[in-house]
Amino acid sequence: MPTPSLLILPGDGIGPEVMTEVRKVIDWFGAKRGLSFEVFEDLVGGAAYDAHGTPLTDETMAKAQGVDAVLLGAVGGPAYDTLDFAVKPERGLLRLRKEMDLFANLRPAQCFDALADFSSLKRDVVAGLDIMIVRELTSGIYFGEPRGIIDDNEGGRVGVNTQRYTTDEIRRVARAAFELAKKRGNRVCSMEKANVMESGILWREEVQWVHDNEYPEVELSHMYADAGAMQLVRAPKQFDVIVTDNLFGDLLSDAAAMLTGSLGMLPSASLGAPMENGRPKALYEPVHGSAPDIAGQGKANPSACILSFAMALRYSFDRGDEATRLERAVETVLAQGVRTADLMQAEGGSPASTSDMGDAVIAALEASL
Ligand code: NAI
Ligand code: MG
Repeated sequence: MPTPSLLILPGDGIGPEVMTEVRKVIDWFGAKRGLSFEVFEDLVGGAAYDAHGTPLTDETMAKAQGVDAVLLGAVGGPAYDTLDFAVKPERGLLRLRKEMDLFANLRPAQCFDALADFSSLKRDVVAGLDIMIVRELTSGIYFGEPRGIIDDNEGGRVGVNTQRYTTDEIRRVARAAFELAKKRGNRVCSMEKANVMESGILWREEVQWVHDNEYPEVELSHMYADAGAMQLVRAPKQFDVIVTDNLFGDLLSDAAAMLTGSLGMLPSASLGAPMENGRPKALYEPVHGSAPDIAGQGKANPSACILSFAMALRYSFDRGDEATRLERAVETVLAQGVRTADLMQAEGGSPASTSDMGDAVIAALEASL
């Protein structure tokens, strides 16, 4: 087996700060677990614009296509707000997602016990929560044609968007969800509105087809997305993997994120088609942005980015055992009371810095041996 490869794109704002802590974690797995990666590092977003006049060079794009996984920090910031649309930092990230054809967006909602009181829901509803929302990312109503604002020829205007899904688009995201379920709790709940939308009827039929023909061993259920939203806040622990379309997934994943408390804790992944080596194309990144309000001050919580690397271990490198070790280390650190400022109640002791938190994770990893 060739050494697995990783492209690191720290980006802007707190991106480089949190990535420094992830580098410590990557080095630890190399030194102590024999898990070595060929690591490349490059620029993206405003940092790439400053150096090259573009938020993502062709060279970086080619490198992203060639590695087993890309790990990104964050892009953007006030210094770039006045740039032309075509060279804005976000365009770098969008180009990566588009050219790698990352159609499955994975957003876990995992509630660490030590943070259960940060949730907007009661502790017993969320403590121990561990669900995964798989959102279709490259089709559906955000892309369907026709779209636009048109005259209705009677002096009024009409805003038009089109929800459109093909059989192939539904099947490939369904496969991604079933594959994930096999590495987790072996259950998938598919959400749409088959009661009022034809695209929802096709969605339900095709997800069922993939299940019956390719993943009969995984438990599949279907739910209308509005009922699913209710269940998500009423009893979220009933779910394992939820698969849904682009629009419903946008809403449901943001709602699920808040079940767990802080933006500084939330990882994500975007997966594409399998490559020749069988691994899916993959981009891992924290959900949060570049946090210009705290950038450069050593205040950022590196957990979201560290947990994104844990997702890479599990979903790109088939090392669920080591991913769990890393997640437990983060959990241990929280239980010890080590907290960055975003994880502290109004009146608390003095917060841990970004590097304090990273060092504590390394110490917890050491203790796990
Ligand atoms: P943001 O996620 O950067 O920050 C929102 C709030 O959460 C801020 O108060 C920030 O300090 C806090 N926060 C975020 N991550 C944190 C962490 N790891 N530790 C502690 N506190 C944290 O979102 P905002 O302010 O809307 O956007 C700032 C910039 O980031 C903008 O330029 C935006 O376009 C960009 N952005 C980039 C994203 C990406 O790279 N994927 C995603 C979201 C926004
Ligand atoms: Mg959203």
